[in-house]
Amino acid sequence: EKCTAIVLAAGKGKRMHSKIQKQFLEIQGYPVLYYSLHCFQESSMIQDIILVTSEDVISYCKEQIVDKYAFSKVTRVIPGGKERYDSVYAGLLACDNPDYVFIHDGARPFINEEILRRGLSAVQQTGACVIGMPSKDTVKIADTQGNVLETPDRNCVWTIQTPQIFSYALICRAHESIRKKDMSKVTDDAMVVEQETGVKVRLAQGSYRNIKITTPEDLKIAQAFFQEN
Ligand code: CTP
Ligand code: MG
Repeated sequence: EKCTAIVLAAGKGKRMHSKIQKQFLEIQGYPVLYYSLHCFQESSMIQDIILVTSEDVISYCKEQIVDKYAFSKVTRVIPGGKERYDSVYAGLLACDNPDYVFIHDGARPFINEEILRRGLSAVQQTGACVIGMPSKDTVKIADTQGNVLETPDRNCVWTIQTPQIFSYALICRAHESIRKKDMSKVTDDAMVVEQETGVKVRLAQGSYRNIKITTPEDLKIAQAFFQEN
């Protein structure tokens, strides 16, 4: 079975407030983006990698990341779009008809082979899998005024990470269908499948370390995790 990784790195990183886009900031001597590419490169489950970046850094990525670290599985470095789902769609269009796609945030450096394996085995059963973890915090649903409406059972609340893994045909069909409508509320890949198809999405465990580098304090946390290893 052919698996393609789509690694997303076309965001602006506004919440990081840094001059250099967060995916290129260095932790322990390597750019944030290096770590997930390295994991996909080393995994026997993955045949090729499509890297999605903004137009102006395509040649930088080719030279300073793909060539420099010999990520030979990266077959394409392509421009993303305005929103994350536009970048995902660009990645999907650039695929060479795989069986499954692993859609991953380049801003999540802490994936590992075990997470990929759990994701693959779940997607083989259902066609759609999201990586996440049971929520440590109680979650409340509120209205826009800040009034609590309900408290979902914490055993049923997961916080969602990436990769999110799909049958390629299924995620393409779901995207084609939702792009004709309103995508403004789409915040993850599985939502597209939930809304546009009848396919059940499976949850598989990631790890509590699989954080997304979003704000400056996340860099410090990531730093600490890397120092342990
Ligand atoms: N991403 C992308 N294309 C976009 C927006 C986001 O490829 N148009 C990628 C980011 O590069 C990141 C991942 O999607 O790896 C998760 O998005 P997020 O954490 O929101 O990153 P940014 O959009 O860059 O950050 P911010 O929202 O703070 O601007
Ligand atoms: Mg964003």
